[in-house]
Amino acid sequence: MAEDPTRRAVLQSLESLRAAGVDQLPMAPRPTAGARSDAGSPRGRQPAVSAAPADAETLDALREQVRACRRCAELAPTRTQTVFGSGNPDARLCFLGEAPGADEDRTGEPFVGRAGQLLTKIIEACKLSRDEVYILNILKCRPPGNRNPSPEESGNCQAFLARQLELIKPELVCCLGSVAAQNLLGTTESVGRLRRRVHDYHGVKVFCTYHPAYLLRNPSAKKDTWDDMKRLMRHLGVVL
Ligand code: URA
Ligand code: URA
Repeated sequence: MAEDPTRRAVLQSLESLRAAGVDQLPMAPRPTAGARSDAGSPRGRQPAVSAAPADAETLDALREQVRACRRCAELAPTRTQTVFGSGNPDARLCFLGEAPGADEDRTGEPFVGRAGQLLTKIIEACKLSRDEVYILNILKCRPPGNRNPSPEESGNCQAFLARQLELIKPELVCCLGSVAAQNLLGTTESVGRLRRRVHDYHGVKVFCTYHPAYLLRNPSAKKDTWDDMKRLMRHLGVVL
């Protein structure tokens, strides 16, 4: 059988990795995003990770990559627009939610509906404004009917979120609700168990608290979120 040059090149680099002491490889590369997931792949076959990585050098360039994204077969055709994120690109504190709802899909801004108005109040109770922090979501597109993001959808969007946080370089991320917390931290633990602890995401401190939509349905949990915010602000050097 004729020697395939690609196969030979792969075997050679595996040999040199083994010579360097590497005896295990990860199963799959990091998820990437930024182009149609079916770009260039033969019909009917699931693409290997074919999309361009979210390698934008600036938040504005990343916003454009997100705007062009068509990876999610159900979300791309049903969205009004993508909802990238808003606030201070040099924020020390980011609030991470789940996904745009109807109001966010219509306006292009995260957290502007009823839950968003409660988030604005929480931010202001911390003596901050929405312009001083940065607000973003796990998904940049609205899931129809506000269903939860599927694992495939959050995987498709993961590289955008990772790059967005790399570019902002916050000191602290506050996860709002279980979808944000579980996706960012790669855990299945509940918010109730994740709150009151400091977690780590690539060197960034991560706090978890209840989603403002949950607080609207369960007002008695507001005092817990207020405790969480006081604890979080102490890590930023602010005593409330
Ligand atoms: N809920 C979220 O998680 N994010 C938004 O942007 C709005 C509502
Ligand atoms: N469950 C959720 O999904 N979110 C919360 O904020 C609390 C419980």
